[in-house]
Amino acid sequence: MDSNKRPETMERITTPELADAFIAEQVKELREQIGDKKVLLALSGGVDSSVVAALLIKAVGKQLVCVHVNHGLLRKGEPEQVIEVFRNQMDANLVYVDAVDRFLDKLAGVSEPEKKRKIIGAEFIRVFEEEARKLDDIEFLAQGTIYPDILESEDGVKAHHNVGGLPEDLQFELVEPVKLLFKDEVRVVGKALGLPDGMVYRQPFPGPGLGVRCLGAITRERLECVRESDAILREEFAKNGLEGKVWQYFTAIPDIKSVGVKDGKRYEGYPVIIRAINTTDAMTATVENVPFELLEHITNRITKEVDGVNRVLFDLTPKPCGTIEWE
Ligand code: XMP
Repeated sequence: MDSNKRPETMERITTPELADAFIAEQVKELREQIGDKKVLLALSGGVDSSVVAALLIKAVGKQLVCVHVNHGLLRKGEPEQVIEVFRNQMDANLVYVDAVDRFLDKLAGVSEPEKKRKIIGAEFIRVFEEEARKLDDIEFLAQGTIYPDILESEDGVKAHHNVGGLPEDLQFELVEPVKLLFKDEVRVVGKALGLPDGMVYRQPFPGPGLGVRCLGAITRERLECVRESDAILREEFAKNGLEGKVWQYFTAIPDIKSVGVKDGKRYEGYPVIIRAINTTDAMTATVENVPFELLEHITNRITKEVDGVNRVLFDLTPKPCGTIEWE
């Protein structure tokens, strides 16, 4: 049987009981597959890799080595949450790599979006490879491949986003415990494994992270503006019942300044753009009708609290003709 094909008889995992049964079965299979060997996992803190990490911790404990690469393009609080949940609460073997300067130096002056994506992807592989070489006796590579990744690879829509591209001498046997699950099932399993809601129900976040929301050539100053304004937007959406309702929402910052006034003086600053969209498959999207008062409140907070920002704009463009991200 093709192990990449979901059996027709496989029941959709929709309840904690079904999730527990799946977890028990996977733990057994993972122990059989891995034995007393070591497994490596690139742990971004996204839903899929986090669920795979939690499953493997349950199955083989410290035989799992998680590598979390902080490329400087993560959202506010994300690296801290990975350390708190996996190292402190789950007692995982976690290697935290601070690669912020490395990524930002490579990206300096690069304004073309696809070039930025390539640099981020290639540098990620390089950092991961270096960490893998420091470790002895790794035989397996775990990945958070999910069923839509397999379906999309077959369709030729896109290559699924795993840690492909490792050199020949670093080829490991793959461990992909959630590869037959759909996203909603991965979330139910994650919840049953005890992962925090903020991790299980989080909105999609692009692999290149804030790198494609700090438009044009990335600077540390604008990167901080986008990170801080995004944190305020997320906080306000959560407080006002929009978290979990709106499919994706974030801020982006263009590379232009405008004239403004602050404390009675001329103040040149960057604008921040708010994007809040709904979709089912990310191929088309509509704009969320965010209450005007809330937008005013968020504008007030961002312009007061984020240094360097003097305007807030709301993106009213559906997809098509705008894509969801600005780059
Ligand atoms: P667009 O901008 O193409 O976005 O309408 C559709 C969805 O894909 C996400 N996105 C990415 N995800 N790597 C990713 O892993 C990328 O380079 C990338 N670019 C866009 C985007 O956030 C949205 O959910």
